[in-house]
Amino acid sequence: MSKLLVTGGAGFIGSNFVHHVIRHTDHTVTVLDKLTYAGNRDSLAGLPANRVELVVGDIADATLVDDLVGRVDTVVHYAAESHNDNSLDDPRPFLDTNIVGTYTLLEAARRNGTRFHHISTDEVYGDLELDDPARFTEATPYNPSSPYSSTKAGSDLLVRAWVRSFGVQATISNCSNNYGPYQHVEKFIPRQITNVIRGIRPKLYGAGENVRDWIHADDHSSAVLTILDRGRIGETYLIGADGEKDNKTVVELILSLMGEPSDAYDHVTDRAGHDMRYAIDSTKLRTELGWVPQYRDFEAGLAATIDWYRRNDAWWARDKDGVEAFYASKGQ
Ligand code: NAD
Ligand code: DAU
Repeated sequence: MSKLLVTGGAGFIGSNFVHHVIRHTDHTVTVLDKLTYAGNRDSLAGLPANRVELVVGDIADATLVDDLVGRVDTVVHYAAESHNDNSLDDPRPFLDTNIVGTYTLLEAARRNGTRFHHISTDEVYGDLELDDPARFTEATPYNPSSPYSSTKAGSDLLVRAWVRSFGVQATISNCSNNYGPYQHVEKFIPRQITNVIRGIRPKLYGAGENVRDWIHADDHSSAVLTILDRGRIGETYLIGADGEKDNKTVVELILSLMGEPSDAYDHVTDRAGHDMRYAIDSTKLRTELGWVPQYRDFEAGLAATIDWYRRNDAWWARDKDGVEAFYASKGQ
């Protein structure tokens, strides 16, 4: 049994990880989360109080972070400002949380000798052309496009430097686009599902040709647990489940699964600097550590996600109007 500190554990992927840990291990979890607009304590509802504790605070608060890191065996660092569109509107919080927050955690891990796993994104590698046969590997050079992805790239480089310079016992994973329950309605899939539920037409940026490599959040969680169990210190592992789909295909599938005509969506203003395609080659994780994704049927996973949003209106309703007002102000 281990004691984990999960930063950002009230967010989308962090909360899915906490649920996964409670289901599949006997670890205890302290969640450190600032409960920004993206955090929701209801995402942790129903978890056993003797195994999960929520501390509301900032990962850039050195005193708090040092105290919490000193009490656990392992830090799993999910907390971040995570949305590209917000980073185009106001980059500053991305620097504060993704760069300074990660630095603060690394210093605490260094002082306390604590194992550290850093959660990152495939976006640090930039994007691929639609017809490029290549996929991202651990050897792909960093080439981030947005304020969000550049701050994530910066945080990855800090982790690498703290491993090499100070001997911090860290690993990094870079994952592709996640879907599943508890994802904020600002993001692509939940925005379109909740639009349909509310009678609003889904909104596709530009022509909708951009490709994302979808993985279920639960598969991301099992990959992270695998890296915590068997990953080699100092290594980076790419996490992906061979789920490439263009955005147009995903919107059409959502509409048809929800009983609407598959062309009942609008094309809206494209995202500035919009990355065209992400694609992950996860051979290293699969062959070296033996990880295998469980969610192989995207349509079935998407149908279950639609069902979750239909059943959990109370979880997302608080955010929906504000998100749509923000997008409307940008013609999206
Ligand atoms: P999210 O926005 O849903 O959740 C982020 C969480 O971090 C929220 O609960 C928020 O309150 C918390 N947080 C933000 N700033 C904080 C601070 N200063 N101190 C403490 N807590 C803070 O994000 P997500 O989609 O769950 O992403 C989680 C992590 O996974 C991020 O590091 C992101 O870069 C990475 N990632 C996401 C995806 C994806 O598809 N969503 C894919 C690959 C990697
Ligand atoms: O690849 C991993 C990344 O995936 C993570 O690092 C990010 O934290 C996460 O937000 C996600 O980034 P994207 O920018 O790919 O995700 P988003 O859900 O914002 O958009 C997915 C695609 O859908 C993208 O091509 C933009 C498009 N889109 C998005 C929205 C919100 C639309 O066409 N319409 C929309 O309304």
